[in-house]
Amino acid sequence: MQNDIDNMGSMITLAAEPWCIRERAIDPARRFLHETLFTLGNGYIGMRGTPEEGSHGRKDTLEGTYLNGFHDTEAIHYPENAYGLARINEFMLNVPNAKRIDLFVDGERFALDSGRVEAYERMLDFRTGLLTRSLEWTSNSGKRVRIVSRRLVCMARKHVAAVEYAVTPLNFSGTVRIVAAIDADVTNLQAGDDPRVGSAISGPSLQLVERRLDASSQLVLQRTRHSGFLLASATDAMLAGGKQAPVSALEGGHAFDVDAGQGQTVTLHKFIAYASSRDMLEAEVADFAGAEAARARTIGFEALAAEQAAYLAQFWDEADVGIDGDDALQQGVHFNQFHLLQSVGRDGKTNIAAKGVTGEGYEGHYFWDTEIYVFPFFLFSRPEIARALLQYRYNGLPKARERARQMAHAKGALYPWRTIAGEECSAYFPAGSAQYHINADVAYSIRLYLLATGDFDFIAQYGAEIVLETARIWIGLGSYDRQGRFCINEVTGPDEYTALVNNNYYTNAMARMHMTFAADVAARLRAERPDDYARVAAAIGLEPVELDAFRAASSAMNLPYDAELGIHEQDDSFLSKKPWDFAATPQENYPLLLHYHPLVIYRHQVCKQADVVLALLLLSDQFALDDKRRDFDFYERVTTHDSSLSSCIFSVIAAEVGYRDKAYAYFMETARLDLDNTHANTEYGVHTAAMAGTWLGVAYGFAGMRLDDGGLRFAPTLPYQWRAYRFKLHVRGALLEVAVDAGGADYRLLQGERLALAHRGKAFELNATQNSIRMGDLA
Ligand code: BGC
Repeated sequence: MQNDIDNMGSMITLAAEPWCIRERAIDPARRFLHETLFTLGNGYIGMRGTPEEGSHGRKDTLEGTYLNGFHDTEAIHYPENAYGLARINEFMLNVPNAKRIDLFVDGERFALDSGRVEAYERMLDFRTGLLTRSLEWTSNSGKRVRIVSRRLVCMARKHVAAVEYAVTPLNFSGTVRIVAAIDADVTNLQAGDDPRVGSAISGPSLQLVERRLDASSQLVLQRTRHSGFLLASATDAMLAGGKQAPVSALEGGHAFDVDAGQGQTVTLHKFIAYASSRDMLEAEVADFAGAEAARARTIGFEALAAEQAAYLAQFWDEADVGIDGDDALQQGVHFNQFHLLQSVGRDGKTNIAAKGVTGEGYEGHYFWDTEIYVFPFFLFSRPEIARALLQYRYNGLPKARERARQMAHAKGALYPWRTIAGEECSAYFPAGSAQYHINADVAYSIRLYLLATGDFDFIAQYGAEIVLETARIWIGLGSYDRQGRFCINEVTGPDEYTALVNNNYYTNAMARMHMTFAADVAARLRAERPDDYARVAAAIGLEPVELDAFRAASSAMNLPYDAELGIHEQDDSFLSKKPWDFAATPQENYPLLLHYHPLVIYRHQVCKQADVVLALLLLSDQFALDDKRRDFDFYERVTTHDSSLSSCIFSVIAAEVGYRDKAYAYFMETARLDLDNTHANTEYGVHTAAMAGTWLGVAYGFAGMRLDDGGLRFAPTLPYQWRAYRFKLHVRGALLEVAVDAGGADYRLLQGERLALAHRGKAFELNATQNSIRMGDLA
């Protein structure tokens, strides 16, 4: 029978609805992309939005289930070797597909690609956290059924997910067979031509240890080939409705056979749990997963769904960025916030991958994306998650120390450019390990954490050790030139189209901030908590002269500036390079990295992403507004924005220097980047840094927020296209709401005793007596 869904054209996009994404038909051209967009996750489990019934041999699909941080390793082979290159790649594993359900209607297998599908709708609701699909299907022999499935990955239960699968015969009474399976025959994508996708894998990573099948439960135990972790995938299923035959055990699952009357609904509930020895003792893994699935079954799907909605209600209450006047944009903003929550590890052992838990792009690696892009969103909406992200870096110190020694640093710790469990996994060092700025990025986020929370306990316990150990690398790496300037040579800044340079402005400026902060933290610790100071100093062998060295290097830091152009030079050589010929570059040659040898790119004046422009934001108070404008003008002309981390930063600075149209245009590129697949690779996962960049664009960009030693301040603007916008911030023990409309800005203290802040240079305080204020003058 001819299948309707293949004839529906290929331009069916998602309607602009603020709180959900909904597809009303399957568009074959967007199917792969939508698997990513409809992913469910809880910071640990990630389940791509593939159908329960599988994809039956289709190639344009990635049947992916991931566990944040759960990885195998492979040796990295270099045809031409060199000392100190990264040796081991850690990559996030595709784990068994435990949501798998197969349906047979009077013996005929249901598949979206066979028979006739009608009344199809699928929706991911950001407020309930449920992925719901409903459709009617007519089998090749004319039997018509309604199938409604609901799926969730529990936000409040790290290890648990659940599926409800309801089938109703519409024009017949007969046998319905539902098979609840665990598909353990899964592998990761193999590396291809695109360096951003796939892993170089020498063979299957998950090796079967044992498979158990009891009356209603199943368990698959596997061991990873190289990393040696034990993984349990468990399910517990039950069926309601119809006249049921005894459940039969099949290879890989349970078959529930039911005599279903016309109009009678048969419902399968399947409860899923994953656990691994990354989180617990090996001996506990199987029992834990089995018990979690059984407990979920006892709780029941409805109660889990209610719990999920309650969790999300609280999240949105504090995190929601509301924009009046543009539904498509509001949808993008909510979608991004929702996916960030779905992606972020919160246990101190995991972090947030560049693609979250939605796909295999960048192999599940964590980058600086976390500290510089994602961290502020969580810091101001869910500070405890931000703290867990820092905790992850603390736990990574031992490996970072090892890496520092490999890189010939006698002291200190050097964080890996990309990693899961702390190993440096960057096989291409010019655009990887050479990005030493990662150390300063981590320090920056600790400084921001302290500014936003005032939590010096955390600094005393963990933060100081990170900041001091990582600051030491600058002293080992840098040196004084003949003019007495402190120089940092042979590094790569954020812009990956310029590699291995001397005195990258961003790196030097951030290293200066880092060393000053390290010396300040040490001084405060010594003054306020001498015992903690003594403990940290003893643990890392810190000598007071090192603090002097930090201050001296900071004040002598070489910060390249071109007086003639009045701009900060990206590095010593950038301005003498040949400008890239943009006029002669056809549109299809972007991103440049897929069309030109790295050397061709490196020897030109061309940027992949914000570099100096990012420093203008992070170190905002160190620049005059005119400098910012000139830097923006210059670097905008040479930047391709081939990295998804770029537009949001340009948007923020455009807003600050008064380029309102540009601020809006760059913001729009970020806000719907994944929904509209503008980087053409969302199939392999969402772009979490850009998603968080949307939040930066609203708070730091349009609302002009800054938080540094000068305090918390705003300089709001209202984009012409909007009627109003609002967001909340947890800051210094208070919950603040900022609401901007055409007539001005309202600042409201929703929780907390008092908060000092400023609006366009005018300082004021909110407190119990005056808990809100309206400022009529927008920037
Ligand atoms: C960017 C990096 C980023 C990485 C992961 C690259 O394309 O250039 O800055 O860390 O993607 O998102």
